[in-house]
Amino acid sequence: MTHQVRAVVARGKGAPVSLETIIVPDPGPGEALVKIEACGVCHTDLHYREGGINDDFPFLLGHEAAGVVESVGEGVTDVAPGDFVILNWRAVCGQCRACRRGESWYCFNTHNAKQKMTLLDGTELSPALGIGAFAEKTLVAAGQCTKVDPTASAAAAGLLGCGVMAGIGAAINTGNVGRGDSVAVIGCGGVGAAAIAGANLAGAAKVIAVDIDDRKLETAVKLGATHTVNSKNADAVEAIRELTGGHGADVVIEAVGRPETYKQAFYARDLAGTVVLVGVPTPEMKLELPLLDVFGRGGALKSSWYGDCLPSRDFPMLIDLYLQGRLDLDAFVTETIALDDVEKAFERMHGGDVLRSVVVL
Ligand SMILES: NC(=O)c1ccc[n+]([C@@H]2O[C@H](COP(=O)([O-])OP(=O)(O)OC[C@H]3O[C@@H](n4cnc5c(N)ncnc54)[C@H](O)[C@@H]3O)[C@@H](O)[C@H]2O)c1
Ligand SMILES: [Zn+2]
Ligand SMILES: [Zn+2]
Repeated sequence: MTHQVRAVVARGKGAPVSLETIIVPDPGPGEALVKIEACGVCHTDLHYREGGINDDFPFLLGHEAAGVVESVGEGVTDVAPGDFVILNWRAVCGQCRACRRGESWYCFNTHNAKQKMTLLDGTELSPALGIGAFAEKTLVAAGQCTKVDPTASAAAAGLLGCGVMAGIGAAINTGNVGRGDSVAVIGCGGVGAAAIAGANLAGAAKVIAVDIDDRKLETAVKLGATHTVNSKNADAVEAIRELTGGHGADVVIEAVGRPETYKQAFYARDLAGTVVLVGVPTPEMKLELPLLDVFGRGGALKSSWYGDCLPSRDFPMLIDLYLQGRLDLDAFVTETIALDDVEKAFERMHGGDVLRSVVVL
């Protein structure tokens, strides 16, 4: 059997997205069909539409989603119809060299659905990050479904599926922020704001938010920033050093993805401190640093894919903290929109007006 559902498709490079009817197959072995309840609009969806990821058009966009499992294929035991799940793009294989050494958050062979979703004329769709959730229903590998407490709001929960998890994980997993640490976050959009919330959860004593937009700094304070720096008017490195006794922060998280902000992060950390790059650069960007500074300042320079998260470990825990009122996921939901408003949400993203627009179905 197949299902005909409405979905947001990017047909060509730079072209506005369109709402289309697509065909979703019933789940085969190891797959799950999920009825989507909410899906956030992430920068990466826009990258796909602009051809910045690859040329495998048409794309089925959307990948920060929560919903309810409708049916599962043969051999699926971890999730069952009726389960409330967050979709993830790290369904770990259990067999690659990273998984075998017990570091499955680095899994090099993650799973997606094997069957293809198509347009009505049979053209195969490429789902964004193997998910494709700006759709009434989507087909994923069962391992991409992580069961969480169903009393959580779908709009808030879905955000853990990408950007918010990337930010929180950049602080708690990659940066290994601990009690009493000083942390600076450069770029306080959805990802950076989440890094601030993560640093706060981990017990950081000082959390310095840096952005060029005062609106972002205001939200950062709501999420636990203790100090703010508008780096349009001030030197970010000087300001962070001044706020940390002249030394720099223990952990600096770069959540913009540009060489100039990476350099700020590099010089704004204390000796032997950690830099975490969670912002995603574009292929033409280059970084130049004195190698002696790389050596002489010691410490760790790390990058963070998806916040080095393990969905089965991190999603249920973070949803529990959310339900206890210790992690304000609702603060990331700037607006809820309909499936045919995704193009408008891309425009608002450009204007810097939102942390997240979330499609609610
Ligand atoms: N590593 C991952 O797994 C992962 C996952 C999702 C997103 N990302 C990436 O994280 C980055 C941030 O994503 P987002 O959704 O928060 O984007 P966003 O556009 O919401 O936020 C970017 C923020 O950076 C600020 N900014 C821009 N230039 C700046 C500068 N020179 N100095 C200081 N601040 C500056 C902007 O004002 C904005 O608040 C993007 O590169 C995105 O692709 C990474
Ligand atoms: Zn693996
Ligand atoms: Zn994303």
